[in-house]
Order: sequence, then structure tokens, then C-alpha cells
Amino acid sequence: MIALPDFPWDSLASYKSTAEAHPDGIADLSVGTPVDPVPEVVRRALADAADSPGYPLTYGTARLREAAAGWLARRHGVTADPAGVLPTIGSKELVAWLPTLLGVGPGDKVIFPALAYPTYDVGARLAGAEPFPTDGLLSLGPERVPLVWVNSPSNPTGKVLPAEHLAKVVAWARERGAIVASDECYIELGWEKRPVSILHPDVSGGSHEGLLAVHSLSKRSNLAGYRAAFVAGDPALVKRLLEVRKHAGMIVPEPVQAAMTAALDDDAHADEQRERYSARRTALRTALESAGWRVDHSEAGLYLWATDGTGCWDQVARLAKLGILVAPGSFYGTAGESHVRVAITATDERIAAAVARLTTE
Ligand SMILES: Cc1ncc(COP(=O)(O)O)c(C=O)c1O
Repeated sequence: MIALPDFPWDSLASYKSTAEAHPDGIADLSVGTPVDPVPEVVRRALADAADSPGYPLTYGTARLREAAAGWLARRHGVTADPAGVLPTIGSKELVAWLPTLLGVGPGDKVIFPALAYPTYDVGARLAGAEPFPTDGLLSLGPERVPLVWVNSPSNPTGKVLPAEHLAKVVAWARERGAIVASDECYIELGWEKRPVSILHPDVSGGSHEGLLAVHSLSKRSNLAGYRAAFVAGDPALVKRLLEVRKHAGMIVPEPVQAAMTAALDDDAHADEQRERYSARRTALRTALESAGWRVDHSEAGLYLWATDGTGCWDQVARLAKLGILVAPGSFYGTAGESHVRVAITATDERIAAAVARLTTE
């Protein structure tokens, strides 16, 4: 049996019941799931591709790979070879299986940030490798490190890593023959800083060798329900992933590939969604601060990383009494024990309810 961590969300159940008992109902800000409509242009593309009786291509259609490369160029200043693009069944799937797909295994360390999305750890364990959370690459000894994850903007902190920092990670990894996988699912949601891709020439030095960027349409295009993401970067690495994924049947359905193509070709819906999140973020941030919380980092992404100075579970309890459910920072690492993660993904109506409760506490 592989030793996987306990699923932490179960421990929130009693706080959820408390929040649900609020007379005006729960404002659930604990998870970052989209609540706004799937854009019309995407729905239409999905429906138009509904008659797809044959097996889809694991590699994705040429149109999809070109749309992904086009989006990277247009929005992120990245020149990517469409041959180095591969669709995935959401990005969580790739995060969980990347070490296995790359042949990382026992005796190997998989590095990821000290405060992180829990699936990097899970992916290391599934491969039989050692999960190694650290923010200090330089403190590592000479041991074998085949894979380093970075995540900017970060879940849970919203921190953005500058190009110089990412370039140092790339240089360190290249010296040791490590692959850098960069989870960039919040890259379009920079508020106070502009996130940069690992594939940008300022970071990569113009070569994508040893680099993989993971992109998701869940947040940008409200497509969490479609399971729509892709990995891009070093064509040789992508080819390796493709080989295994073909054998394993890890295929994105054809109508979803068509929907992804339409989403990547269109920026208007993403800009509109960004505006919604921006307004919710400002309202929630102001309300949290007026109620005595301090918001750290949170320069980008879909969360406010907040603390009132007490332990994270005390803060979860304080907010649950107001009918507001948030995630304790400890879900993401011991360094998160004095913070809570507040998602800005609820509807305008629920955000307004949370704001009203915080300002009259
Ligand atoms: C950092 C990070 N990576 C990956 C994912 C997975 O996203 P999806 O599987 O919807 O693409 C999430 C989801 O919240 C996330 O926060």
C-alpha cells in the first residue's frame, strides 16, 4: 500500500456545519472552485463537437496545440513549439502522475515549495519517491533530485516569484540534470505583480530544455468541470510523457479538446472573469482588514492568505461562527499554521454576505 496523506478536508466538517447554521446561510470560501458560467464561446465549441464517436488523439488535435502555443505567445511572451504541447485531464491529474510518468521513483527526491498545493506530495508518493518540501534548494546536498516543482502564483499564498528567482532555480536544476515543472494555473490572475512563465526567455534563457509548464483552463475559463489543462515545454520531455500516456489511456475527450481550443483562442471571456475576481478580491480584502486580519502576499491568484495573529484553527472557528468557511493554512504545510486561506471564488452575492458579516462582527 502506498502511504498517502489523510484527506484533510474531512477535518473541516464540523466548522462547515457551524457555518451552515448561520441564518443567512454559509459563505463557503474554503475551496477555489469556479462559480460563474462557462463562457458561451466555449459551450458552443463543446456542443459543436458532440458528435465525436472515434477515439481522440492523446497528443491533442493540431489545432489545440497551436491554440495553446498561440495563447502562450500572445498573453505570456513565450515562444513555444506546438510539438511541445500536450493536453491533460485537468492539471491535478498531471501533478499527481508527473513523477511516475517521468520514471522518478524510489531513492529520488521530488522537491516542491514548503507551503504548497498538496498534490505535489501525493505525486511523489504515488511514484514511490520521497516528497521533499523546501524553499531552500541550496541547502540540498549532492543527492539525486530528478524533479523540482515551482508554483507561481502560489496556492495557497498568492506569492509571485520574480523572473530572477525562477532563473536561479532553472540554473540550479540544469547544473544537476533536474527537470523543473512549473505549475502556472493562476498565471493570468496577477493583481499587484505580473506573473512570469518558466518558459519566458528571461527565465529559460531562450531554451526550454528540461522545463515543463503546466497550465489549466479551470480558473481562467471556468472549466474546472471540463477537466481541461495542458503541459508545454521541452518537446523531448513532452514526447516521453506522450508515450506513457498513450499506453495508459490518459486522453482528453475530443469535445473537451474543441472547447479548450475555443477558450485558448479567446481572451474576452478571460478578461471579463478577471474583472469579477478583482472586484471580489478588493471587497473581501478590505473587509478582512477592517475586522483585524492582515493579508500577506496574495499578489496574485484566487486566494487571500490572511492571519489575525492566532492559530489557523482558531481563525477557522471565528469565521465559521460568522457563517464563513475558510481553509486552515496547515493544510498546505506547517509554515501555514498561523494563516487561513480565503478563496475569492464565491458568487458576488455570497461575497457581499461575507463582507457584511465581517464588517459588523
Ligand atoms: C496550484 C494548483 N495546481 C493545480 C490545480 C488543479 O487544477 P485543475 O486540475 O482544475 O486544472 C489547482 C487547483 O486548485 C491548484 O491550486
